[in-house]
Amino acid sequence: MTPVTTASPVAGKTASSKKQPPADKRFKVLDITMKRNQYRQDALIEILHKAQEAFGYLEEDVLAYIAHQLKLPLSRVYGVATFYHLFSLKPSGAHTCVVCLGTACYVKGGGDVLKALEAKAGVAAGETTPDGQVSLVTVRCIGACGIAPAVIYDGKVSGQQSPEDACARVAEWQIDVTASSEQ
Ligand code: FES
Repeated sequence: MTPVTTASPVAGKTASSKKQPPADKRFKVLDITMKRNQYRQDALIEILHKAQEAFGYLEEDVLAYIAHQLKLPLSRVYGVATFYHLFSLKPSGAHTCVVCLGTACYVKGGGDVLKALEAKAGVAAGETTPDGQVSLVTVRCIGACGIAPAVIYDGKVSGQQSPEDACARVAEWQIDVTASSEQ
């Protein structure tokens, strides 16, 4: 009888195109969920939900992992994760502004966009304004380099953003707040 051997996958040399999960048990939970859903792209919301349960919020490497496993563009995963209020990318304000600081975006001025937004909102990246209205988040690359510098406003990706464009968007949210607090 031929002895049964257990294949031991060598990092980066597995037969499957599926990425090996990082050594964190929570990624295993995530893997089980994705497998149960047969890595279907239309199960993205359910998978994000499970990820948030496991991690408390949806941090960048979790979203990148899900995008890779489901073969979805990272921008789509970010779009969904920042659009639905039940998902949190760390701090969760009423509005979320995600600035890409990946190489392409940074070279085209993403850093200036972020600086202007930090000054405008009065918070640093990763924080939420004290009134709970605006969360400012940064990411490395959302896969939309062709339209760099990219910013995601409440789940919608916008390209070729200048500091003025970004501040004008945040100002709209702040006007909303002022208007509703004056009523
Ligand atoms: S570097 Fe910003 S989308 Fe790729």
